[in-house]
Amino acid sequence: MAKISPSILAADLANLSDEVSRVGEADLLHIDVMDGLFVPNITFGIPLMEALGRIDHPPLDVHLMIHDPARYIEDYISLGAVNVHVHVEGNYHLHRLITSIKEQGAGAFVVLNPSTPVGAVEEVLSIVDGILVMTVNPGFTGQKFIPEASLKIDRLHAIREAEGYGYEIAVDGGVNLSNAPDLVKRGADILIMGAAVFRAESPEEVVRSVKGLKR
Ligand code: DX5
Ligand code: ZN
Repeated sequence: MAKISPSILAADLANLSDEVSRVGEADLLHIDVMDGLFVPNITFGIPLMEALGRIDHPPLDVHLMIHDPARYIEDYISLGAVNVHVHVEGNYHLHRLITSIKEQGAGAFVVLNPSTPVGAVEEVLSIVDGILVMTVNPGFTGQKFIPEASLKIDRLHAIREAEGYGYEIAVDGGVNLSNAPDLVKRGADILIMGAAVFRAESPEEVVRSVKGLKR
């Protein structure tokens, strides 16, 4: 069964608690933290995590698109992040970062931008909890899915099978109800979806259909 992580970047932030209550039985809630340097957009951070602490929500899946994420890992985990996604690009000490996320009790996911090859994470595949394949260039919700980038799912799935690794494969960017079944068939375990959930008439129904997808 596939897992879904709706991205609140696509939600109406003026009605955040209503929006969060619309995702029904979502497995996770995806939080896109951007600093205007690592990506060309600024979103939200610690204060939003604190606000979420005052309402009911699915477990938090935090995607850090910021320079030097190591500075903030502890804050996000203490505010409830169950998964922390850090990019391989620009991280000089990725192994140390993964180890530190895991030691603090959260799931360590490493993110690949569309132009970053699977080879960039080969040496950490045995220790990560997940790999996130970006299928848009990170920065904004509502962008077009990049099919070439999704080929990495096949590679990651094949390596996982061959080596017996336990990492999950997540996909983020332009995922919708039309491409989701194929992504799951090819090995994706977690679908991160912004516009396709929050701009749908019934987000709850989208969540239900994605959760019903089987490999
Ligand atoms: C993009 C973010 C995504 C984004 C997904 O930089 O990492 O999580 O919010 O939004 P959609 O599904 O609309 O592409
Ligand atoms: Zn994201």
